[in-house]
Amino acid sequence: MDEQHWGQVVAAATRAPSIHNTQPWRFTASAERLDVHFDRERALPVLDPSGRQQVISCGLAVEFAVLALAARGSAAEVHLLPDAGEPDHLAAVRITGAHDPTEEDRELAEAIDRRHTVRAPFQPRAVPGDLVDRLQVDARAFGTWCKTITRSEEEIATVFLISRAEEIEQGDPAYVAELQRWMRTDPSAVDGVPVDAVPSGDTHARPSNWLIRDFVVGQREPHAFLPAGDADAPPPDVERPTVLLMGTDGDDRYAWLQAGRALARVLLRATAAGVAASPLTQALDWPATRARLQARLSLVGHPQFLLRMGYPPDAPAAAVSGRRPVEEVLSFVPAAD
Ligand SMILES: Cc1cc2nc3c(=O)[nH]c(=O)nc-3n(C[C@H](O)[C@H](O)[C@H](O)COP(=O)(O)O)c2cc1C
Repeated sequence: MDEQHWGQVVAAATRAPSIHNTQPWRFTASAERLDVHFDRERALPVLDPSGRQQVISCGLAVEFAVLALAARGSAAEVHLLPDAGEPDHLAAVRITGAHDPTEEDRELAEAIDRRHTVRAPFQPRAVPGDLVDRLQVDARAFGTWCKTITRSEEEIATVFLISRAEEIEQGDPAYVAELQRWMRTDPSAVDGVPVDAVPSGDTHARPSNWLIRDFVVGQREPHAFLPAGDADAPPPDVERPTVLLMGTDGDDRYAWLQAGRALARVLLRATAAGVAASPLTQALDWPATRARLQARLSLVGHPQFLLRMGYPPDAPAAAVSGRRPVEEVLSFVPAAD
């Protein structure tokens, strides 16, 4: 593949969601191979000291690249952590030959540009059970399990731990300073989270048990909606999203990359079916709340990601987050003559 084709594939890869839209990746392409590296200059030392959420983000970019290649007619093989002496070299994607794109390849690749994090309250309509089953099968292919939070006591525990994590975060000036460094008011910003893409401070206007990350810290009142005691009888105007917890048996870079790849499939399959999502990862940010979630939900393995899913509101979409230009993240190494 030439530089122009790799440019298109990397453009698709960079559409992947990333924590605080840090886009913590760098790519090197040669004729038959794309290498993905963790860019430590974009690290989040307070929120993500182990790099777990940023490596998950890079796993998403790897899978977006694989899907873009498939839709363009190239089969690819992914080798995670190909260089034992270089842990930031996260993946090598090698083209193995031609591939006849399937309808599914096209559908998933087309969803790449349409997918955005939707933090607005969802419509009351439930996500169909067969779609959720399909997402679970998709994730399992990457050694990642998905569990829906449906039982009332699990919901209460999860909602409580998200709230607890938010409290820890809002009380930590280093966390707040780091978050503010990634908030953007300029609509043409190429990274970071646009202020217009996140809910305003007024949670009373937000009919949901599920607390979206507070990106504009300090404006929010304590959480207005207490967990519903009876999950079968929610007040009619309270959002009831499908909440999906994803996790892995291991908790190392390999597992994080696999969780990211699984999440890529889940998000694109959902987008293709008209379902939107927003992560709710606060409870997983801190070792204490993450361990409590693991214990309270009796999880076998490690929680990696919590996702709120549902049908987006009819209202116009919030601001779309920017991406760095491909030239900034891709170097092309031409084959030697
Ligand atoms: C690992 C990870 C964790 C995230 N955590 C949150 C979160 O806690 N709350 C939230 O609203 N968005 C979260 N996001 C979504 C990002 O903010 C979002 O992907 C980014 O701003 C780019 O926007 P887009 O998804 O619309 O392209 C997370 C994304 C990733 C990949």
